[in-house]
Amino acid sequence: MTPGQKNKVYVSRDMASVALGADDVARAFEAAGCEVVRTGSRGLFSIEPLVEVESGGARTGFGPVGPDDVAAVLEGSHAARLGDVAALPFFAGQQRFTFARCGIIDPLDPEDYAAHGGWRGLDAARAMAPQAVVDAVKASGLRGRGGAGFPTGIKWQTVLDAPGKPKFIVCNADEGDSGTFADRMLMEGDPFCLIEGMAIAAHAVGAGHGYIYIRSEYPFAIAAMRQAIEISAQRIAPFTLEVRVGAGAYVCGEETALLDSIEGKRGQVRAKPPLPALEGLFGQPTVINNVLSLAAIPFILAQGAEAYAAVGFGRSRGTMPVQLAGNVKHGGLYEIGFGITLGELVNAIGGGTASGRPVRAVQVGGPLGAYFPPSMFDLPFDYEAFAQAGGLIGHAGITVFDDGVDMAHMARFAMEFCAVESCGKCTPCRIGSTRGVEVMDRIIAARDADPAAAEDVGGGLTKALHSRSLARIDNGREAQTALLRDLCDTMKYGSLCALGGFTPYPVLSALDHFPEDFGASAPVKEAAE
Ligand SMILES: Cc1cc2nc3c(=O)[nH]c(=O)nc-3n(C[C@H](O)[C@H](O)[C@H](O)COP(=O)(O)O)c2cc1C
Ligand code: SF4
Repeated sequence: MTPGQKNKVYVSRDMASVALGADDVARAFEAAGCEVVRTGSRGLFSIEPLVEVESGGARTGFGPVGPDDVAAVLEGSHAARLGDVAALPFFAGQQRFTFARCGIIDPLDPEDYAAHGGWRGLDAARAMAPQAVVDAVKASGLRGRGGAGFPTGIKWQTVLDAPGKPKFIVCNADEGDSGTFADRMLMEGDPFCLIEGMAIAAHAVGAGHGYIYIRSEYPFAIAAMRQAIEISAQRIAPFTLEVRVGAGAYVCGEETALLDSIEGKRGQVRAKPPLPALEGLFGQPTVINNVLSLAAIPFILAQGAEAYAAVGFGRSRGTMPVQLAGNVKHGGLYEIGFGITLGELVNAIGGGTASGRPVRAVQVGGPLGAYFPPSMFDLPFDYEAFAQAGGLIGHAGITVFDDGVDMAHMARFAMEFCAVESCGKCTPCRIGSTRGVEVMDRIIAARDADPAAAEDVGGGLTKALHSRSLARIDNGREAQTALLRDLCDTMKYGSLCALGGFTPYPVLSALDHFPEDFGASAPVKEAAE
C-alpha cells in the first residue's frame, strides 16, 4: 500500500456517508492515483466515511477518515485502522440475508451483482410455475416489512387468483417513518436486489409492469434506481419498471393513498374493501409491498424458503434490518433474526446513548410507535410480543432518547404530527389530533404551573387559598388526562387508517410509562429502580 500506486479502495456513496464527507475522501484518493470503487454503506455510521483498501483479495478498513488521511491510510498506519470490517462486533453478530451485498459491491455493476449471488433467485423463480413461487414465499413465513406485518405469500396468492388484467407490482419506497433508512440504504447500495425481487413478484402473479414510489427527499435512491432499471432492462424483460417520485407526505406511504398519488391524484386514503390486491392501481389487481419485503424475495428463491424460515421467533420468521437512530452511540443498520431483545439492540449493539447519559425511552416503529422504558428492555423483537406490550415493530426503526427527554412534549409532538400529516378524510384523525394538541398543551401548562410561585406572588395568600389552587391544578390535570384517554379511544377505533388509529400508541405509552412527565407521581416500579 504505497502512495501513488494503483491501489483499489472502496468508499461509500450512500447519502449518509456523503453527508459525513465521503465524496471529498473519494476525490482525495482519486487524486492520489487510486482506483476508487463507490459502494453503498455497510451501515455503521460512526465509522463513516469508511475507506477499505484492497490488498491480496482482502479489504482493510479505516474509519472515519478525512481527505487529509490518504497517505496514512495507504501506508496502513492510520490510527483509525479497523482491519477486516466484517469481523467488527457490529457486523459479525448480524445475519445479513437482505443486506448481504450492501457496502461490498458496486451498486450499479451488474457483473459485480451476479458475482455475489445476484439473479439466482429470478432464474430459479422463472424455472418454476407461478403457484410454486407463491408457495415458496408462503413457506418462508415472510411478513410485510412496511409496518402491518401481513403475510406476503397470502397477498401474492390473492393477486395471482384475481381475474383482471393487467396486473401491477408496486414497491412502497416512501419510507416516511422517523429514524428509518433501510429502504434508502438498500436502493442506493443494492438496487438490483429490489429489481430482482419485483421481477420475481411479477412472474409469480402475472404482472407486466411495476412502479417504485420513492419520496423526493431521496434523490440518491431515485437516481440509483433509475440507472439500475435502465441497466437491467434486458435481464428482467418482458417485465418493465419505472420510478415515480412522491412529494413526501407521510400519508402517501399508506398503500391506497400511494396508489392515488401514482395515478396523479392528491394522496388520500381509500376505504377498504376493495383491497388493492383485487382493485388497486388504476382499479387493477396490484401487489403492493415495502422495499424490504421485495428485497427479501431473491434470497428466499435462491437459498430456499426453509433457509429463510429457519431464522426467527414465533410467527416472525427470517431477519429484520433494524435501524438504530436518535441519541445512540452506534447508529446504523443491524440485520438480525427476530427474537433479539430490545435491550440487546439498544445497549449491547447500539452502545447506549451518544450523550453518555442514561437511556430513558426508546420509540419503536416510527412516529406511530410506542415509547418503551428500560424496564421493558427484555421484550423480544417479534410482531406479537410488541403488539401484546402495546406497541408495534413497524418498519423496525428504533429512536433512542436519554434522560433529558420530556415525554409530555413527545406525546404532544405525536398529536401535532398527526394533525399536520392527516389526509383529512375522517373526523377522528382530522379533528381529534388538533384537539389532542390542545389537551396536551393544557396538561403541560398544569404541570408547569408552579404552586410555590403562588405562595410567593400572593404574599398574603392564606394556606387555604394555596391548597385550593393546588387542588384546582390537580383536578384540571386529571380531567385533561381523562379527556386525552377518551380522545385516543375515539381516534383508535374511529379512524379510517393507521395514521389516526395508531397515534394513540406514542401518546398513551408516554402517559402510561412516564406519568411523572404529565404531572402525576411516578409509577412504583419506576421509582424502585
Ligand atoms: C400513514 C401510513 C404510512 C405508511 N407509510 C409506509 C411507508 O412509508 N412504507 C411502507 O412500506 N409502508 C407504509 N405503510 C404501510 C402500507 O400501507 C402497507 O401496509 C405496505 O406498503 C404493505 O407492504 P408490506 O406488506 O410489504 O409491508 C404506511 C401505512 C400508513 C397507515
Ligand atoms: S386516519 Fe387520518 S390519514 Fe387516515 S384516512 Fe383518516 S384522516 Fe386520513
